[in-house]
Amino acid sequence: EKERAPYSEQRKWEEERVAVAQWKFGARDAKAKVEQDYEYVLDDTIDFVQMLKLPGTKEIEEAPKISEAEIKKISLQETRRSLPIFPFREDLLKAIEDHQILIIEGETGSGKTTQIPQYLYEHGFTKDGKKIGCTQPRRVAAMSVAARVAQEMNVKLGNEVGYSIRFEDCTSERTLVKYMTDGMLLREFLSEPDLSSYSVMIIDEAHERTLHTDILFGLIKDISRFRSDLKLLISSATLDAEKFSEFFDDAPVFRIPGRRFPVDIYYTKAPEADYIDACVVTVLQIHVTQSLGDILVFLTGQEEIETCLEILQERTRKLGKKIKELLVLPIYANLPSDMQAKIFEPTPPGARKCILATNIAETSLTIDNIIYVIDPGFAKQNSYNPKTGMESLVVTPISKASANQRAGRAGRVAAGKCFRLYTAWAYQNELEENAIPEIQRVNLGNVVLLLKSLGINDLVHFDYLDPPPYETLALALEQLYALGALNHRGELTKIGRRMAEFPCDPMMSKMLLASEKYKCASEACTIAAMLSVNSSVFYRPKDKVLQADTARKNFFVPGGDHLSLFNVYDQWEESGFSSQWCYENFIQHRSMKRARDVRDQLEGLMQRVEIEMTSSPTETESIRKSITAGYFYHTARLSKGGYKTVKHNQPVLVHPNSSLFEDLPRWVIYHELVFTTKEYMRQVIEIENKWLLEVAPHYYKAKDLEDSLSKKMPKEKGKSKEELGD
Ligand code: CDP
Ligand code: MG
Repeated sequence: EKERAPYSEQRKWEEERVAVAQWKFGARDAKAKVEQDYEYVLDDTIDFVQMLKLPGTKEIEEAPKISEAEIKKISLQETRRSLPIFPFREDLLKAIEDHQILIIEGETGSGKTTQIPQYLYEHGFTKDGKKIGCTQPRRVAAMSVAARVAQEMNVKLGNEVGYSIRFEDCTSERTLVKYMTDGMLLREFLSEPDLSSYSVMIIDEAHERTLHTDILFGLIKDISRFRSDLKLLISSATLDAEKFSEFFDDAPVFRIPGRRFPVDIYYTKAPEADYIDACVVTVLQIHVTQSLGDILVFLTGQEEIETCLEILQERTRKLGKKIKELLVLPIYANLPSDMQAKIFEPTPPGARKCILATNIAETSLTIDNIIYVIDPGFAKQNSYNPKTGMESLVVTPISKASANQRAGRAGRVAAGKCFRLYTAWAYQNELEENAIPEIQRVNLGNVVLLLKSLGINDLVHFDYLDPPPYETLALALEQLYALGALNHRGELTKIGRRMAEFPCDPMMSKMLLASEKYKCASEACTIAAMLSVNSSVFYRPKDKVLQADTARKNFFVPGGDHLSLFNVYDQWEESGFSSQWCYENFIQHRSMKRARDVRDQLEGLMQRVEIEMTSSPTETESIRKSITAGYFYHTARLSKGGYKTVKHNQPVLVHPNSSLFEDLPRWVIYHELVFTTKEYMRQVIEIENKWLLEVAPHYYKAKDLEDSLSKKMPKEKGKSKEELGD
């Protein structure tokens, strides 16, 4: 951790560098100008100072400005021709013909994702019935981009153009242009190791360096050697092109010149204590003092977005007609696609759109007409500690590279402004240059299982762009061994092969497999499905918090949160999957429908691994044992000082939303950890310590499970051959 310089020093630094134009966005000036009514908006304002200007590129500064009315007139095809990539169409196709592997670099919004597959299609790369594939790190991007391209090609989504994301396949026999998440392509290797049905594969958004994309690099480089007819395109927004080129045996780099208007960057004068509040205030400040143009706000996740959305809606409602119309729209991964589509709809004349987005809007999605960007400087990141095996989602400061990407979103259609809700000093001294690639900071269990299923045994010498830390790799192997997926020689077992069939975390796959033995396969599928949408099941509107919380608590059943989630699904099913029922019980109907889809697919996969859909809904012990069989690493024990994880003695707390919060059991299993100020366990069930010996005999020894309070030692020892692997 970097030490913070004393405040006086920070001030000095700021003062030295404060730009000529100290643009005040202050309360007093604004108040004097606008009517009294605005006081409510502006009684609380933030002072920004302008520090620097991100330059735009020449060409576009000279380009004529297109009026909004004109933009609307331009047809889709004309829009296609207006994209920065269009003048390079022929050169690009020529370069692709000349080289097997090509690195493509171009500013976000230049048309890489939507146009390149279409160019290839038009050029005949699908003539022999082979597909053009394009990977995306994010589900939302895969879906929305496919929808856009289907529209541009005037075909029905799912026919010639389709997408495939986890638990949702929107493709058909006819699909020739296929967008998919990088994780889905990894899974395709299982059924088609040489990707023989593709003529071109585009690894898009390579700069994001997600774990799956990084693994794909190694796999795809390998197949390119024996599939000389397969074209490989690595496309990336910025930077890194040289690094990719080097990795792919000095593949040539094709650069699409950027075109961007200048963006003024503003910083806060002092650090902001509450960035959600600061966002709300800044949005309103912009809305009442700045000329029209849409606002893009970067938040870290769904919960923050919903909070911010509600506050903004409430405040604009109170202001009523006194202000211009402000349309506040959310965008995050779990948002249903019809809602997602809203952000792309044109802003009504005289109104302003304000989009509250996660990182997804940083590079994966391009939203036109953004003039103002608000950047609090944070993103949610997976962080994994191989020493403790603890993985949690942590709100982390973004990198400088990200901050500049975010700012750049403001300069696509005209000169823009970016408001950073941190000080210039913090930008300069506290942000890292680049984000750490995911492969170096997450649990590798998933990927290791997949690579093993592909017959790649030596994971230490796999061709990585950046290798994962050795301990992380070792721990993943150890964990898979404990789950019974690998034998002591590190080879895939029968259980492991079956686990790999599920597009789930190994722990969840193991839970599903274990439900066979405990005769509760049906319940396990429901719970797995609910866990995969869990954060968005309960609806909690700001004006009905009490009723919503009561409704949520009504679903609580003894044993813990997984069982409560099951109960929600069970009752919903009993209601005939009714939306009215959801409404009355403060349940998000959309999330439930998604859970139902996921559940259906899991049922199909259970069939594939030949597990019968047994059910024992009242046997909560069997259900909890199945969960324990998968999640036994996530065990915590209550002792005098509170909960500590069993193997590593890390202090953890039960999340206040848990049904077990008020009556803490001795032994618990948690689904995940969320780090806010402390490590919170989210989705918790009560277990008995002796179950751990039954389900994970080669991970837990009796002495790990001594109960300091009862001093009772578990006696049973069940070491089934099946669990040890074959
Ligand atoms: O991939 P890259 O960032 O280079 O650009 P793109 O995603 O292909 O976007 C090119 C253009 O398509 C942008 O100007 C977007 O406005 C538009 N687009 C859209 O209108 N709707 C989408 N769902 C995706 C892109
Ligand atoms: Mg793109």
